[in-house]
Amino acid sequence: MKDNTPRVTSLKSYLQHLPQDASHAIVSTNFAPYLISYLGFSTTEIIPQYDTGGGGITDFATRRNLENDIFLQTKSNPFLLIELKDRYTNLTENSPGYKATVNQLKRQLLGTKCKAAQWGIITNGSHIQLFRKHGKIIFPATTCIAITPENIDETVARIKTKIDNTPKALTVTVYNNKGGVGKTTTTINLAAILAFLGKKVLVLDFDFNQRDLTSSLLNINPEDGLLEKALTDRNIDLKSVIRPYIYIFQTKKLKITFDVVPADPKMAEYPEFQYNSQMKIFTLHRKLDLARYEYDYIFIDAAPNWRFPSQLAVYAADVVLLPTKHNNSFSLNNAATAIKEFLPQMQNFKKDGTPIALPIFFNGEKITQPQLQLAQKEIDQILENDKNLVPYFYPRYTNAKKDLHIHHLPEYAIIASAAFARVPAVYKNRSAHEYYKDLAKEYFLQ
Ligand SMILES: Nc1ncnc2c1ncn2[C@@H]1O[C@H](COP(=O)(O)OP(=O)(O)OP(=O)(O)O)[C@@H](O)[C@H]1O
Ligand SMILES: [Mg+2]
Repeated sequence: MKDNTPRVTSLKSYLQHLPQDASHAIVSTNFAPYLISYLGFSTTEIIPQYDTGGGGITDFATRRNLENDIFLQTKSNPFLLIELKDRYTNLTENSPGYKATVNQLKRQLLGTKCKAAQWGIITNGSHIQLFRKHGKIIFPATTCIAITPENIDETVARIKTKIDNTPKALTVTVYNNKGGVGKTTTTINLAAILAFLGKKVLVLDFDFNQRDLTSSLLNINPEDGLLEKALTDRNIDLKSVIRPYIYIFQTKKLKITFDVVPADPKMAEYPEFQYNSQMKIFTLHRKLDLARYEYDYIFIDAAPNWRFPSQLAVYAADVVLLPTKHNNSFSLNNAATAIKEFLPQMQNFKKDGTPIALPIFFNGEKITQPQLQLAQKEIDQILENDKNLVPYFYPRYTNAKKDLHIHHLPEYAIIASAAFARVPAVYKNRSAHEYYKDLAKEYFLQ
C-alpha cells in the first residue's frame, strides 16, 4: 500500500495554535498527529488507542510498514508508543503527574503485545520526553524538555534522529564504590550467561589496577598501552582492542563466545591529571558508538573508587548495576551515594537522562531472617533521608503493596573457584548457571 500523505516539516505553528488549556482530546487531534507525521510515520503506520496487552491502552502506537505487513492491518509489534496528557497535567520532571505518566508508559511498554517496542514518548504539548526500551529495561533517551514554538522543531528533530538510528545494545556498568561486593564476578557471569542464551556480548575490564576480569578468562591477557592508544587516538577504533573469549562445551559440541576488552596495565599508572589532559569524560562513550550497533549487551566492570576511569565507565552506561552485600552497611550506603551523587554528576554532563541506576541486589552471602531484618533496618535509615531512593532498593514497593523484595544471588563456592580455572562459573556448574540466569531474567530479559 503506497502512502502519499505529505509529511509535516514544521511543528511551530501547530504548537503556537495549541490552546494553553488544551484538553486531552485537543492535544490528541491538534498536536499529536502532526508530531507523529514529523517523526516520519504515515497514516497506515499509526494506530490510535492501541491495546498494549495487559499494560493498558496507549494513545498512539506506530511502526514502519514492512512489505507485506501494514501496521494498521496487522496491528503487530509496535515500535513506538505515545502517551498523551492534557496541558493541565504538570509534566515537569519529578512532579507527581510526571512520575505517574512515566509509570503508565512503562506499564504499556511492558505489555505483552509490545515485546518488540523500542521507544516511548510522553507529551502534553508543553513537555516532551523520549524513553528507550531494551528487554525489560526502560530508561530515558532525553531529559523531559519544556517545548516552545521556538525549540519544538529542533527538539523533535533530535528525537527523530534517535529513533531512526535505534542502537542494538544496552550498556551496563557494574559499579559500587565498596570493594569486594562481586562486581567482577557479576560482570563475567552475566556476560557469559547472556552469550549462552544467544546474545552478542562485549565486556570491558575497566579496573586497570586489579585486572580481575582479565585474569578470570582463559587466553585473555592484559595488553600494555593498547586500550590507552584506542582511547586517545581518534584514528584507532576500539575494535583493535577486542579479543574473543571462546568456551567449548565438549559434550554438546557447542561453542560459545563473547568479546572482551582486556585491562590495560599502563592506564593503572596514569596520575589523575594525565587522564584529564588525555581524555574527556565522554571518550569511552564515543568510542563505543559503533559497538552499540553491533552488540546486544555491553558490560563494563568498574573499579571500587570514583576516579576518572570509573567516571568514564559510568558516563558510558545506559544503566548502572550495583551489587551490594546485605551484611555490609558500607556497600548499601555507597550504593545510595552512587545513585544520589555520582550518577547525577554524569547525567549533568550527558544531558540525555542517563545513566540511571538499576535496583540493588544482594550478592553472595547466606541471609538468615534476622540478618535480613538488620539489612532492612539499614535500608530504612537510608530511605528515611531520601524517599526518592525507594525504587532502587525495593523495586516492587508501591503504596498499595509494601513489597520489600530485593533480588539475592546466593553464595556458592564454585563461583569463586571458577575464577581460578579462568572459566565463567555459569559454564562449569548447573546451579551457578541457574543463579545467573535468574539474575539476567530479573533485570534484563523480557
Ligand atoms: N555469589 C558468589 N558466591 C561465592 N563467591 C563469590 C560470589 N560472588 C563473588 N564471590 C567471590 O567474592 C570475591 C569478591 O568478588 P569480586 O572480585 O567479583 O568483587 P569486586 O566487587 O569485583 O571486587 P573489587 O572491588 O576488588 O573489584 C571473589 O573472591 C569472588 O570469587
Ligand atoms: Mg572487581
